[in-house]
Amino acid sequence: MQRITTVRSALGAVALSLALLTATVSAQNHEAVRSSGGVVSSQQWIASEAGARVLAEGGNAVDAAIATGFALAVTHPTAGNIGGGGFMVIRFPSGQATTIDFREKAPLAAHPEMWLDENGEYSSQMHHRSHLAVGVPGTVAGFDKAHRLYGDAEWATLVQPAVSLAEDGFVLSEALAGSIGRFAERSQYEASVQAYSKNGTPYAAGETFRQPDLARSLARIRDDRWYGFYAGETARLIAEEMRRGGGIITEQDLGLYRAQERTPVQGTYRGYDIISMPPPSSGGVAIVSMLNMLEPYDVGAMGHNSAEYIHYLAEAMRRAFRDRAIYLADADFADVPVHRLTSKEHATWLARNIDPERASVSHPTDVQMRPESPETTHYSVVDADGLAVSVTYTLESGYGSGIVVPGAGFLLNNEMGDFNAGPGLTNESGLIGTEPNLARPQQRMLSSMSPSIVAKDGELVAVVGSPGGRTIINTTLQLILNMVDFGMSIEQAVAAPRIHHQWLPDRVRIETDGASAEAVQALEAMGHTVQVGGQQGSANSIGIDPLTGEAIGAPDPRSPDSGARAGGRSGTRAGGGR
Ligand code: DON
Repeated sequence: MQRITTVRSALGAVALSLALLTATVSAQNHEAVRSSGGVVSSQQWIASEAGARVLAEGGNAVDAAIATGFALAVTHPTAGNIGGGGFMVIRFPSGQATTIDFREKAPLAAHPEMWLDENGEYSSQMHHRSHLAVGVPGTVAGFDKAHRLYGDAEWATLVQPAVSLAEDGFVLSEALAGSIGRFAERSQYEASVQAYSKNGTPYAAGETFRQPDLARSLARIRDDRWYGFYAGETARLIAEEMRRGGGIITEQDLGLYRAQERTPVQGTYRGYDIISMPPPSSGGVAIVSMLNMLEPYDVGAMGHNSAEYIHYLAEAMRRAFRDRAIYLADADFADVPVHRLTSKEHATWLARNIDPERASVSHPTDVQMRPESPETTHYSVVDADGLAVSVTYTLESGYGSGIVVPGAGFLLNNEMGDFNAGPGLTNESGLIGTEPNLARPQQRMLSSMSPSIVAKDGELVAVVGSPGGRTIINTTLQLILNMVDFGMSIEQAVAAPRIHHQWLPDRVRIETDGASAEAVQALEAMGHTVQVGGQQGSANSIGIDPLTGEAIGAPDPRSPDSGARAGGRSGTRAGGGR
């Protein structure tokens, strides 16, 4: 009884502070925030604020990450979710680290040929944009597991901010009003149109956006944790929508879903420790492999985004992405040689034929991998004790499958699209049909999400990661290089222009104004195909000031609504330091 009273009064306080929060909507900005009381940095400042409040009330970084994640499911619906999945990397003040894998899984009725139509032809629409594209969601199980293992605060207080944001609403920014308006306009699903418009009329910026069905789904999670999603009303509503739309996820599939704690992938780079996500993410393996390839070179002396630097980056990326395509998949189903791929010896072998003057050529198939949208989301949390949490989670495409579960108010992912198309379907139009990442019952699809943590001599240095499909891996790599090799502060490291190469297509992509015209010309003269333009990622990160030990939250200025918030009273705008 005592416990219930305490929870109720805590919920009341949260509701009150969220009411204040909606009134201060104009407070967003992209400035870095510095605090000794902990920091949250995410793609949506209201969600950062929900997490920071948990820190201020005595919760630890895992608690704050859970509260931020649930709040993002309300305030950042393109990628924040309860109907998707992702990964959490945790580093404890002792230096030990762990990860929570809450990647979606294939349902029991899945099979490698499930996206062939009645004529036996592969259908991209079935694979990416139908009820057959939906994986069994993992986010709620992941947050529940992280909380049971490492949380301190009362569970209900971590979900309630999201319940209040969905129930009472929050004021729409221009960017979000435009985004949900475009989504509702093109949606073919009535429940999606209802959830994201006023009966077909778009919301305007400045209007209050309420999501009552989502509030009820979140309230069930608040009250019954895992059971509030994977059993009972929500599970029934998901299974019903699957039957209605020709999907295959059943209540049994939902009941079988468990998040997994996994040992991180770890590597070293110039004395720094790199802690990242193991399979079914390819991110940790690829980042460690690329850092190993670059370590023998004096990268810092080349100059940031000089032709020479971009050449070496692209050559390391090309090789790591080739390994990714050949070896990486869910290690519960495929034999993934993580130790070999992340060893210094393997990197030496891979880098043996990097020519300082000439681009290599990506053989052998000319396969162009499917283009990806940038809609995933990454956030970082550090608490006053130095507990660090790095989370990347997603619905896969922006708004996932586009399917809102009727009566439940949340979007389902289209993550099954991250499985390979079908056995032997590798062809020149962009399909990959290699064995390890084919859909099998209960298998998790390969991911590029790379939540990562950097430490040195036992001290936390930074919490990093990004959305962006396969570019995630390279964005995260460059955040590390920017700090280690170019001495950038976390704000500079996040803001600096990025490049991307993914083996196939054989092309270097450089963000708008990311390199000089001379550097682009020099790269082309070396044989690189170069494409300049666009933006890459949203790397909402945290660095630690080595002098004061304060956490500095650096939201990515590329995202209009991103923001960092301080957990303690000592939060100030940051200046200098890493
Ligand atoms: O897990 C992955 O790698 C992707 N589903 C992430 C999706 C993303 O970043 C947006 N683009 N596809």
